[in-house]
Amino acid sequence: MSDRLQKKVAVITGAASGIGEGMVRRFCAEGAQVILADVDEANGSRIAAECGADFALLDVSSADSWQLLEKKIRDDEGRLDILVNNAGVVTGLDITAVTVDAWQQLMSINLLGMMLGCQTAISLMRDNPGGSGGSIINTASSTSYLAIPDVAYTTSKAGVVGLTKSVAVHCANEGFNIRCNSIHPGATLTNILKTAIEQAPEVEEACNKMSPLNRMGTVEEVAAMAVFLASDEASFCTAGQYAVEGGTVSQHPKM
Ligand SMILES: NC(=O)c1ccc[n+]([C@@H]2O[C@H](COP(=O)([O-])OP(=O)(O)OC[C@H]3O[C@@H](n4cnc5c(N)ncnc54)[C@H](O)[C@@H]3O)[C@@H](O)[C@H]2O)c1
Repeated sequence: MSDRLQKKVAVITGAASGIGEGMVRRFCAEGAQVILADVDEANGSRIAAECGADFALLDVSSADSWQLLEKKIRDDEGRLDILVNNAGVVTGLDITAVTVDAWQQLMSINLLGMMLGCQTAISLMRDNPGGSGGSIINTASSTSYLAIPDVAYTTSKAGVVGLTKSVAVHCANEGFNIRCNSIHPGATLTNILKTAIEQAPEVEEACNKMSPLNRMGTVEEVAAMAVFLASDEASFCTAGQYAVEGGTVSQHPKM
């Protein structure tokens, strides 16, 4: 690796598994000082120890939890350069089945959690010792553009686009030098999909066919996009939507 993130302090949420774990491993390899933030202490601590990151217990849906993390970063690091708002969950419930509780629980993680993350990051990044600056990356999905039956998930991932653009434009207008972008993975082989494939093997073929490349993405491919957006090479990239989905949203369904 090439030390593209050397001397940068990064928080990655939802990083005890899947795409977030892949980002932690790659960000560490690129020289960043990484704080892996997750509700899953057992896996989070293990992965952090394996790659030289720190673990922080964080429930993204809790404002109190973010406040504790902000204090820890101020005390321990004195700066924040990168936040990846990556934690996300699914309900598996369509519009006829979704309940108020299920809807609110998903939104509290996938959208409220992301908004709280942006607020916390801006507060820290504005106080960076060398001057205000940083990069916020929000994990959206190809589902921001193409619906699936999980109505809360689809709505939340469309919402991430609006949140990201609003944050980016505000930070630019205020001269904060804080960029904010969303990344849009397609079907990526993480635990969520592995479990679904174990239960119904035909899911694997269906996921492969989503992309004209006829395969799913890997966590490493998503992490590579995050490294670019986190790095100084992306200095003119803000309010953007960055696809890592093998062309999934660009083709009609197969005939
Ligand atoms: N896997 C895919 O095909 C795919 C495709 C597009 C987008 N995404 C998005 O990528 C992100 C990561 O997905 P993944 O597939 O790696 O999922 P995953 O289930 O492997 O990992 C999700 C992580 O989020 C953590 N988490 C859950 N609730 C949390 C909370 N309240 N606070 C902090 N952490 C919490 C979990 O403990 C877990 O470590 C999600 O936002 C998801 O919507 C995934």
